[in-house]
Amino acid sequence: MDVSLKMDEPVAESLLDTTNQNIVSQPVDRVEGPLKVSGTARYSAEYKFPGLLHGVLVSAPMGKGRILKIDAGSIEKLPGIVTVITDYDTFLRNPAQGQDEEAPEQGVRDVSYFGQPVALVVGESFEAARHGAQRIALDMRPDEGRFDFAARKHMAEPKKRSRKAQGDLDAALAAAHATIDAIWTTPSQTSAAMEPHAGIAVWEDNKLTLYGSYQMLASDRLQLADALGLKPEQVRIVARYVGGGFGGKLGISAESVAAAVAAMRLNRPVRVVMTRQQVTEATVRRSNTEQRIRLGADAEGRLTAVAHETITANLDRSSFSEPASASTQFLYGGQARLFLNSIVRMDQLLSASMRAPGEAVGMLALECAMDELAETLGMDPVALRLRNIPARHPMDGLPFSSRSLAECLEIGARDFGWSDRDPRPAQRREGDWWIGVGMAAAARSNMLIKSSARVMLAPDGTAVVETDLTDIGTGSYTILAQITAELLGLPVSSVEVRLGDTDFPPSSGSGGSFGAASAGSSVYLACESLRQEIAEKLGIAPKDLVLTEGMARHGNVSRPLHEILSGPLTAIGTIEPGEMEEKFVQAGFGAHFCEVGVNAHSGEVRVRRMESTFAAGRILNEKTATSQCLGGMVFGIGAALTEDLMHDPRNGAIVNHDLAEYHVPVNADIPALKVRFLEERDEKANPLFAKGIGELGISGAGAAVANAIYNACGVRVRDYPITLDKLI
Ligand code: MOS
Repeated sequence: MDVSLKMDEPVAESLLDTTNQNIVSQPVDRVEGPLKVSGTARYSAEYKFPGLLHGVLVSAPMGKGRILKIDAGSIEKLPGIVTVITDYDTFLRNPAQGQDEEAPEQGVRDVSYFGQPVALVVGESFEAARHGAQRIALDMRPDEGRFDFAARKHMAEPKKRSRKAQGDLDAALAAAHATIDAIWTTPSQTSAAMEPHAGIAVWEDNKLTLYGSYQMLASDRLQLADALGLKPEQVRIVARYVGGGFGGKLGISAESVAAAVAAMRLNRPVRVVMTRQQVTEATVRRSNTEQRIRLGADAEGRLTAVAHETITANLDRSSFSEPASASTQFLYGGQARLFLNSIVRMDQLLSASMRAPGEAVGMLALECAMDELAETLGMDPVALRLRNIPARHPMDGLPFSSRSLAECLEIGARDFGWSDRDPRPAQRREGDWWIGVGMAAAARSNMLIKSSARVMLAPDGTAVVETDLTDIGTGSYTILAQITAELLGLPVSSVEVRLGDTDFPPSSGSGGSFGAASAGSSVYLACESLRQEIAEKLGIAPKDLVLTEGMARHGNVSRPLHEILSGPLTAIGTIEPGEMEEKFVQAGFGAHFCEVGVNAHSGEVRVRRMESTFAAGRILNEKTATSQCLGGMVFGIGAALTEDLMHDPRNGAIVNHDLAEYHVPVNADIPALKVRFLEERDEKANPLFAKGIGELGISGAGAAVANAIYNACGVRVRDYPITLDKLI
């Protein structure tokens, strides 16, 4: 039976609180872990097909200009070359990101950023195709490009829809007892997923199957169909395992379109794997930002004014701008408020969502501004935050669905030993190192996205779950197995979860930290429906049914499922957002506490200790949730200290386009981090009472590092990353 639930009302009771199975929330090991560590989990580029051809993308060696000719003849005599796809206009543009259905713009041969894919060389082997791609003759005319952000930022166009204002900001700032007015800058960043963008396209019986590496298959399928001029029913995407996404794989990119065009023309399967450099240059990036924050507070430290204005960069016609003030809008009170985003048009790689778009860089500014304000006021930074937690959303007056921010701050501070801190900078020295501590709040909006899943329960006490949700390393397989096992009374090992295939019911996909709660709720609803069906067969009320260890029990009667079911039962559950997200502010919250050492001679920063406390509704799997937060904190440390995608202002080329030069933190950069979750339930969010967690860990994390650096050595660096040259 198909069932759906629109979240127009709070859910009175979650079945997860009544089954007593004690499976959900447990730190269950990843069910697909053995496949991954044994190398048998098949990633998209690893499928084998007879007659498989290999495509290598040709990248534009200029940042702005026109490709006049791509001379296929220049390489056609090389061994193993099959063809060159030169009517590259089908995949020249960078495709739309996110959930847009719109395809990349067609018919353009103008290069709009350095490294843009302009052709695909197809060969019998990868080596042949690569050789061809290196040798092919391009006739092109470079044009003057817009590559210098600093020189152009005065031309930033305000994005009208982003403007939110309340009260008289100038008057509030003028009347404030203490104010902060400063600019923070964050650099361009790249998602840096381990697995590159890679795909195999197979064209058969007028249908395209893409084995691809993407996060949100339902919308990716629409994009791909649109790009190729196919109907969505003619396109299937399979992504059983995805080696990281971090936003870079939300929308489709050139490798899949190129592979598909080649496969359709040649009638043979074609594989295209981007090089690391191509991933960096030709997928998406996070824009650099320039953020001006103004705060005003009264003598007791109550905020009276909050302004957060952000300038970001993007290509012409791309409307995305990093929503850096996302959590600033609701995290703290203050009557006078202003939020605005402006875009500078640049001929540089498309800016789009990456790892907590908004909060990740917005809180690098806000939470340092709060640290500076606390110092100005002579207040403890934790106390300042506690004082400014608003009763309701400061602008629209909505209540919060659930919010344990104060508890995170208080418990986090206590366990970290925050009270031992000396608020004066540069007071603690150990050998060559200045030692300091810092903290920051964490906040990240919670979202629910329409999501469907099918659950089949067989009489032998096994179940199969199918949804097109992806597992991008987050634990989707495991969480959905736990929810099913819990609700159907089965061991986790009796549940098979099948993901990452558009033949399955469409899900939210993995993005915006909404995957687990959205897809998990659809599985919940399907299981609830199956429970009702079993209860009906037994002639009892669903609430009297206990499913456990493959048995159905009511009262003193206990029967195995195979005695009750004559065949498999199937249900499709669908969850949809409703009024609960219009009536309540929904977000996860937390607090980061960090200790750093700053080398007195070199300025080198080492994170010595970091402890973060989060509350995000029910935790669905303590182990995978912890890993999500650990990953977020690592990226927060990277944002604070190392990550910096550099664009050459002369030609727009990305200078550090690989993981040797683009520095995400490695093991040696990271001490043992500690993650703690507080008990929380959110009945307004979904029937699981869970909130998103993937991106909460990064939100605020880097600011705690920056504030610790200031406490250690007395230098405020507002230009991220805080590399050693800025400290000495
Ligand atoms: Mo996330 S940036 O929505 O993958």
